[in-house]
Amino acid sequence: MSNIILIGFMGSGKSTVGKILADLLEYEFVDTDRMIEERAGRSIPQIFDEQGEERFRELESLVVESACARDRQVISTGGGAVLRQRNFECLKNSGQVVYLRLGEEELLRRTGRLKGRPLLAGADRKARVRELLAERSGLYEKAADITIDTDNLEPGTIAGMIAERVGRR
Ligand code: S3P
Repeated sequence: MSNIILIGFMGSGKSTVGKILADLLEYEFVDTDRMIEERAGRSIPQIFDEQGEERFRELESLVVESACARDRQVISTGGGAVLRQRNFECLKNSGQVVYLRLGEEELLRRTGRLKGRPLLAGADRKARVRELLAERSGLYEKAADITIDTDNLEPGTIAGMIAERVGRR
């Protein structure tokens, strides 16, 4: 399989970078969050609110599986898509995994501007970001074939760096 899979925390620019990268490589762009919303016929906050996180994760596994079964795509994943072992393996086997890594300070800034992220909806967003990051950083690192430190880089620059690196492998 020759997909490029973008992973990383909420707000790390996976969708923005993914669309540019897909254009550069002439690959199809797919976003697992949008696939989930299409499948459920409702928004992500609605799914969390009406059916709970567990149902969201089930839908996420279904769409990850179907995305992994196709080829020549840039797949932008949700920040929690690597949590389930099954998704992790499926993504790893379907192509090259690229981790868009951001420092904690920048993540705290960026997540302050995000909307529609139920996991960050509580009162203390910063504590929540730190907690989730502590749980997930190791998984992102473990899943990644390529890691890009994206602080201070424009999406187009990041996409160009990825295109160059995947081409060389
Ligand atoms: C989530 C990240 C979101 C979305 C959902 C859960 C997570 O995607 O899948 O709100 O668990 O980190 P983005 O990473 O695209 O924001």
